[in-house]
Amino acid sequence: MSALRFGIVGAGMMAREHIRNIGLVDTARLVALADPEPSSLKASLEEAGGRWGGIATFDSVESMVAGAALDAVIVSSPNFTHRAVLEPLFDAGVHILCEKPLCTALEDARWVVDRAERHKAVFWTAMEYRFMPPAAQFVQDVRAGSVGRLVMLTIREHRFPFLVKVGDWNRFSSNTGGTMVEKCCHFFDLMRLIVNAEPVRVFCSGAMDVNHLDERYGGRQPDIIDNSFTIVDFDNGVRAMLDLCMFAEGAEQQETLTAVGDTARLEAFIPAGDLVRSLRVPLGAPKEVTKRHVPVDEAALKAGTHHGSVYYQLLAFLDAIMGTGPTVVTAMDGLRAVAIGAAAEISAREGRVVTMAELGF
Ligand SMILES: NC(=O)c1ccc[n+]([C@@H]2O[C@H](COP(=O)([O-])OP(=O)(O)OC[C@H]3O[C@@H](n4cnc5c(N)ncnc54)[C@H](O)[C@@H]3O)[C@@H](O)[C@H]2O)c1
Repeated sequence: MSALRFGIVGAGMMAREHIRNIGLVDTARLVALADPEPSSLKASLEEAGGRWGGIATFDSVESMVAGAALDAVIVSSPNFTHRAVLEPLFDAGVHILCEKPLCTALEDARWVVDRAERHKAVFWTAMEYRFMPPAAQFVQDVRAGSVGRLVMLTIREHRFPFLVKVGDWNRFSSNTGGTMVEKCCHFFDLMRLIVNAEPVRVFCSGAMDVNHLDERYGGRQPDIIDNSFTIVDFDNGVRAMLDLCMFAEGAEQQETLTAVGDTARLEAFIPAGDLVRSLRVPLGAPKEVTKRHVPVDEAALKAGTHHGSVYYQLLAFLDAIMGTGPTVVTAMDGLRAVAIGAAAEISAREGRVVTMAELGF
């Protein structure tokens, strides 16, 4: 079988990570790029490095769809463009992998779900954290009962500030959906997966206290949360919390996942890749702790900054296209992750608990 012909819409930083990962598989090849910014097209063509021969470039998704024969398209344009970019792709009937967050506004995300459910090809919301091997193992273990009955889940991300993007689009909530949507949709998606239930209420305390304070764009100061605590109550009684800090680039571990059940506690550390399970023991008794390391393909690790996940996600997406695997992350998963983030944004702004019912869930 000849390799599937991929196009990419939005040829920026994330596109280049996708390009490096397409380069790791022989069942896909990049044939087209669409971006209105010539410097992004140039940088992405350089990243491709002539690997697939001629790659056609376009200044819009519409011209790409009209001018290139494509099997699948990755959407990696800014969050606020996703709905508009997706419409011609749905019309073209191609397989779609759309970067998170699905959209910045719930009504747009609902529109995507409606179109995706009627789409004859695969529609996949990119949720890379599900595909980081230590996170995937953590999910599998908790769901298999390794902590007993899950009661509490904590996800901590302590990392570097938001990077500079083309046109500085990520400095304003109107472009991103707000930090709790833009970045934290990953963690709310993981929560739903680990807890295996749906959220009922969200309380978020967060603000922009350290980063971007001295930045101005057209005279405007950025308005994006750089630290927050978010509590999410699930309909099966499980409590989850997200601890986000974006001025902690010195932290040894960027992500720590902790699940505590009635028989044990499980932690995953990324990038270390270690899982640590501690059984409950009587007070004063010797600790019963087991550690294991979850390996990641070296080439996949080197191809990006997301702990190999873009590679594993691509393999699963290709399986879904070939009919040899399921659509692991649906448009509905994307919508629900955005909805929890939207609830957190409202909660932080208004200083109150937001129920998911208020948002129609
Ligand atoms: N999954 C992850 O962990 C992860 C990480 C980074 C970014 N992302 C997502 O990937 C997307 C892109 O982010 P990025 O970091 O590459 O940003 P970026 O600014 O580096 O690149 C975005 C590119 O899209 C182009 N663009 C703007 N409007 C467009 C349009 N209408 N059609 C086509 N191209 C357009 C810009 O010119 C730019 O080159 C965002 O949705 C972002 O949230 C996901």
